[in-house]
Amino acid sequence: MVLADPSVLTSTVPSAPVLTVGAVLSDTYRVVRSLAEGGMGAVYEAEHLRLGRRVAIKVLRDEFRRHPDALARFRREAETVGQLNNPHIVQVFDVHETAAGDPYFVMEFLEGESLASRLHRDGRLAMADALLITSQLASGLASAHQQGVVHRDLKPENVFLVTVPDRPVFAKILDFGIASARHDRPRVTRDNELLGTPEYMAPEQVHGTHAADHRVDQFSLAVVFYEMVTGSVPFKGEDAMAILYRVVHEEPVPLTKASPWVPAVFDAVLARALAKDPTQRFPSVSQFSWALENAARHVGVSRTKRALPSDVPHATEHVTPPSSPTSLRPTPARDPHQEQVRILERAGRLYDNAVASLKGDQLDDAVYAAEKLFDLAVHHRDAGLYELMGRAMPTLDLIFEQRLGPPTTRLSCVDCDPRRLNLTPNAARLLAIVDGGASVADVLAGSGMPRRDTVRMLAGLLRRGALRASPGTGRA
Ligand SMILES: Nc1ncnc2c1ncn2[C@@H]1O[C@H](COP(=O)(O)OP(=O)(O)O)[C@@H](O)[C@H]1O
Ligand SMILES: [Mg+2]
Repeated sequence: MVLADPSVLTSTVPSAPVLTVGAVLSDTYRVVRSLAEGGMGAVYEAEHLRLGRRVAIKVLRDEFRRHPDALARFRREAETVGQLNNPHIVQVFDVHETAAGDPYFVMEFLEGESLASRLHRDGRLAMADALLITSQLASGLASAHQQGVVHRDLKPENVFLVTVPDRPVFAKILDFGIASARHDRPRVTRDNELLGTPEYMAPEQVHGTHAADHRVDQFSLAVVFYEMVTGSVPFKGEDAMAILYRVVHEEPVPLTKASPWVPAVFDAVLARALAKDPTQRFPSVSQFSWALENAARHVGVSRTKRALPSDVPHATEHVTPPSSPTSLRPTPARDPHQEQVRILERAGRLYDNAVASLKGDQLDDAVYAAEKLFDLAVHHRDAGLYELMGRAMPTLDLIFEQRLGPPTTRLSCVDCDPRRLNLTPNAARLLAIVDGGASVADVLAGSGMPRRDTVRMLAGLLRRGALRASPGTGRA
């Protein structure tokens, strides 16, 4: 949860501790250690003295302890979560006050890490994990909505990934600090605070309209899904105002543009959940989640079997060591789709290399990686790989076109012996056209192949040194 004060928007500076390690609260809970601080609260691990059970205790951070609105919201948070009962929502057991009069509440102790810290470490998640987490969050949100509760601040900091042995991932929603219940009066705070987090806020939340209902959570969940898959949020900006402007006025970069490896079927689903007008979104968060699952089935991505890694290109491949206690990844050896995953990951690395080389103006390296990617697609006639190739095509075309140059470029043979070069019949025919000298336009006109294939092959021949290019005269 955040307030309008920009320093609070990004504040991770620890505040003065509210609870002291070793202190016993209400004769029952001994404070063991500080766990984390969010925008408003500080969370501690504690031990229930009679039951010997670990619990988590949340108090308001020092700077908000005397803030009447914050205090009122904090008390309401405890009541709100207390009513909800869903495995994907953190459980609240009890509400108390410390001897100093500070309210605190007692929750189940969760072991694992927040989605924010996971994303911080891994950059992005495999598509299968992103789908599973989204469906779990949708389940938690749907049950809150049924009780008339809207979370209004769903974001990675407020999602906890619980480590459960032998389960790939188990997500819980935290922090109902600015949740609204159906019976709440319109949410105008005394200080005109902005309640929510700009990157994850729905447009109607920015406007502060009273019509902001359960559909704001669908919008935020879509932003979280987008971030899990691409590693970055759809609306970015230098400051809160710039982000809010984009949330309200600008269309997000389509998912598949942000990450060319994401199958195209996800674009339409995301675009609908991120619609500016809430009436254009899915009627419920569950329907959004089902639409994602349908899209996943359509392209053979399973949210449980982890058939495909997400958007494959991982710049630096991150592999969680198997001994890591927070590892949520099953051991690869047991994955029945291991081979397919391996191919797609290889495709991702090749694509990454191609893009990096293009950016670094290393065109031959870019062509090499792009050619290898084509070979991979041809050899493994895999539907998922084709779908992914389709997304990468504009970039690959650009690489080949750039290597080849404009239509006026003159081509000549350096080595025109097709047998020595071990060429395909089509590439050999291109060499025969060039033999003796020709412009790129001549070859394109005479190849009898689609332009795209001709360009790719010529770029490949240039890379291998079979052809040489020199600037043309200006006539094609
Ligand atoms: N029950 C819990 N068990 C373990 N860690 C928790 C628990 N609840 C919260 N946390 C940790 O504390 C952080 C802040 O909690 P949150 O409820 O979001 O506070 P705030 O309202 O200040 O944002 C979370 O991101 C999470 O890392
Ligand atoms: Mg929080």
